[in-house]
Amino acid sequence: MKDQDITDLSWDDFDEMRDPRPNTNEFDAVVERAISRRGFLGGALAFGSGALAMGTAGLMSSTTAARAEGMGFNFKPIGISTDHEIHVPEGYQWKVLVRWGDALFSEAEGTYSAETGVPVAMSDKVFGENTDGMETFVDGDKTILTINSEYVNPKINLPAASEGTPQTADEVMLLKNMQGVTVMEVADNGNGFEVVVDSPYNRRITHETQMTMDGPAAGSDLVKTNADPEGMSPKGTMNNCGSGKTLWGTYLTCEENFNGYFGATGDYAETDEFKRYGIGGEGRYAYEKFDERYDLSKEPNEPHRHGWVTEINPLDPTSTPVKHTALGRFKHENAEMVQAADGRVVVYMGDDERGEFMYKFVSNGVYTEGGSTEGLLSDGTLYVAKFNDDMTGEWLPLTPETTGMSMDEILVFSRMAGSKVGATTMDRPEWIAANPLKAEAYCALTNNKNRGVKPNAGGDATPASGPNPRETNNFGQIVRWRPEGEDHGADSFAWDLYVMAGNPTVYDNAYGGSENVNEGNMFNSPDGMAFSSDGYLWIQTDGDDSNEGEFEGQGNNQMLIGNTDTGEIARFLTAPNGAEVTGLTWSPDKKVAFVGIQHPGGSWPDGAGKPRSSVIAVWREDGALIG
Ligand code: FEO
Ligand code: CA
Ligand code: CA
Repeated sequence: MKDQDITDLSWDDFDEMRDPRPNTNEFDAVVERAISRRGFLGGALAFGSGALAMGTAGLMSSTTAARAEGMGFNFKPIGISTDHEIHVPEGYQWKVLVRWGDALFSEAEGTYSAETGVPVAMSDKVFGENTDGMETFVDGDKTILTINSEYVNPKINLPAASEGTPQTADEVMLLKNMQGVTVMEVADNGNGFEVVVDSPYNRRITHETQMTMDGPAAGSDLVKTNADPEGMSPKGTMNNCGSGKTLWGTYLTCEENFNGYFGATGDYAETDEFKRYGIGGEGRYAYEKFDERYDLSKEPNEPHRHGWVTEINPLDPTSTPVKHTALGRFKHENAEMVQAADGRVVVYMGDDERGEFMYKFVSNGVYTEGGSTEGLLSDGTLYVAKFNDDMTGEWLPLTPETTGMSMDEILVFSRMAGSKVGATTMDRPEWIAANPLKAEAYCALTNNKNRGVKPNAGGDATPASGPNPRETNNFGQIVRWRPEGEDHGADSFAWDLYVMAGNPTVYDNAYGGSENVNEGNMFNSPDGMAFSSDGYLWIQTDGDDSNEGEFEGQGNNQMLIGNTDTGEIARFLTAPNGAEVTGLTWSPDKKVAFVGIQHPGGSWPDGAGKPRSSVIAVWREDGALIG
């Protein structure tokens, strides 16, 4: 809490000071440690509890627009929405760039149907479903977008008679092809770009694409299968969530909830490792009934070949994607690459599950522009984060010495290695974004209803402490760290919370959020994040959009922009009800933002027929930069 002269206190605050609420002091103390005056933002981000917070929330909301303009945001923040439309600030335009089922190749044009969706024969020639992470690449005068399709909605893709479960091998193939990665060229038509159908860059990478594997777990017994006895040639990528871009211009796709695709048609060993990763029983989509690769009773090592960061060269459609085992296996959200002071490559990564960990990989070799990239993502050290309550933290190396595990076990079962060294259980680490203007990084800790309630799947305790200060955390927060010596290669860091989401109109305690949350900008469940080149943090949400109860006044999922110097946050875009906003990249000239709208409700954007996950383009009417 901010220092305040006693004479300045409101009567409510004064009463509270004299007669504190039961448990308030203890509870506030935990939160106070997370967001203290010693935080990077000083008093501006002090936690506002009790009546003080209610007082300032009203004040802040009434002045949000003026402050937004004053803080250098070049837009007037928008209100919440609850409809099935996209809303952007005055002076901005948007359009749909590409929808689920849109053709990448002319042979697939016109084959999408509002009634039946995409025919299986065309399912790897169209844009996939449920768009997620994406990045922009440039080849001469060509612009190439590489975009993840995270998961499938079987009820939308399959005939009604299938009732959401595939009934044939063809239906399994259709679902598999709706996931993966799309590489597509886009052209600037002066109106938010358009897809270049039949471009030689266009490519779909799916469950069926042949890949290779490198790093210490490649060729390990743990990744050998009947189809690949050498354990070097895994097939397919799945549940591609967030993304990353290497310093040398390739794409990183991050395999997240891979566990749900495997099931058993017969007996299999229910190991601790399977339990930690949520693997076993029936698969979510019945793939194992039609394809032995997904059947644990036939191929118990196949799940070990997924859950990796996979590198794709979007400029070479004939290139073979590579799974980098050195970066560890978990539910990868995204992969944010930066460079250590000495030139080594650093990749920050989150494991999005309640009570799981945050990681970073540091290469042994150094990257130089135009130099060889050999080994940069296969030879190095994987670390896991430990946050201390005194606002410091350490990166703990995961090695045979620190864990008692072999190197291939550490990488295939990274969660168990993290538990062995006492990593901090986090509130679902989603995207990590590094500030391009200074040595600091941010991770969206989206929410964790189990915080303080139950341990993670490995039995590690989840106390309300450090950067995860609230029990039953339904709102989420964004943690920020600054590496020692302004060097991302350092083993230690200082941290604070950039924002703690909450609802100050419902709660007058920590669930009301940090002081930079107010009635005019509140949200829940931060998820996607990226920095624009001017150092603003763009925050996308994937939360409860019921606009009821403790979420009342927060509306649909949204995209906000944060000033990381002042802590101020302003709402820029709202999504159709039912959708999350995820995935963000910009045109090469930074005048157009491409934004992912995943799992919309109703029949957005067509207005009739099935809802279609889409990437939209957003730009300023006056042609000014927005990224
Ligand atoms: Fe795919 Fe954790 O979001
Ligand atoms: Ca996400
Ligand atoms: Ca999420």
